[in-house]
Amino acid sequence: MTDPALELVSVTAGYGDNPIVREFSTRLQAGTITTLIGGNGAGKSTLLRAIYGTNRFFSGQIVFKGETIERLPPWERLKRGIGFVPQGRCNFPAMSVAENLKMGCYTLPSARHDAAIGRVIELFPMLQQKARIEAGNLSGGEQQILEMAMVLLVEPTLLLLDEPSLGLSPKMQGDVFATVQQIAARGVTVLVVEQNVRGALLISHRALVMEQGRKFMEGLAAEVRTDPRIRQAYLGGNIQQTAA
Ligand SMILES: Nc1ncnc2c1ncn2[C@@H]1O[C@H](COP(=O)(O)OP(=O)(O)O)[C@@H](O)[C@H]1O
Ligand SMILES: [Mg+2]
Repeated sequence: MTDPALELVSVTAGYGDNPIVREFSTRLQAGTITTLIGGNGAGKSTLLRAIYGTNRFFSGQIVFKGETIERLPPWERLKRGIGFVPQGRCNFPAMSVAENLKMGCYTLPSARHDAAIGRVIELFPMLQQKARIEAGNLSGGEQQILEMAMVLLVEPTLLLLDEPSLGLSPKMQGDVFATVQQIAARGVTVLVVEQNVRGALLISHRALVMEQGRKFMEGLAAEVRTDPRIRQAYLGGNIQQTAA
């Protein structure tokens, strides 16, 4: 068995004096996509923030590439290859798409900026077409793609995505899912929270189910997808067996 790309050991994290995620353990293998499922307020975003380091860490361990990182600030985690795309927001709405991408390169040596921007434009040609448009004037889906592109500029090896398809048209949701698959095919490990549970399970290798801050279930996406409890709670009670 290869070493996991990320290992969480009994992670307890939250805000102020309130632990929200409790004793959460799991391992993610490199190049896999894992969907994190759970009801509203279950603690999904809180878990992603704990991995990136933007909330209060109470106890446990986060091991990334063999190193414990739970006491490192977010920028140190970014440097080591963790990219986090928080839920729906556009960082610099008054700047053009091209200027946003330039900003996203700030941690890279300037000699690498053009190549980095070239790579994400190849992935999302829309960014080239809309290069001069103010980011705040993009549609919700386009802003989401810009945010994903901004994080991908620095070539993370672990990508944390919080509700990347929220508010997107079905077509754009499909584009986002296809992009996530392409990214993972390059060896990037992905942990994604998705409101479109059905769609996310179809592109995922594994699934984690969280209830009230604790791990409730974990397994292959194909198995979790057919579990009666999951179907009932997250998939509207039935699932088309032919969907895959
Ligand atoms: N910034 C915050 N400060 C304090 N409590 C928060 C904060 N963000 C979320 N919470 C609380 O943490 C719990 C889990 O929230 P969250 O992780 O956002 O759930 P999910 O992403 O699964 O919907 C909720 O009870 C929420 O009120
Ligand atoms: Mg959330």
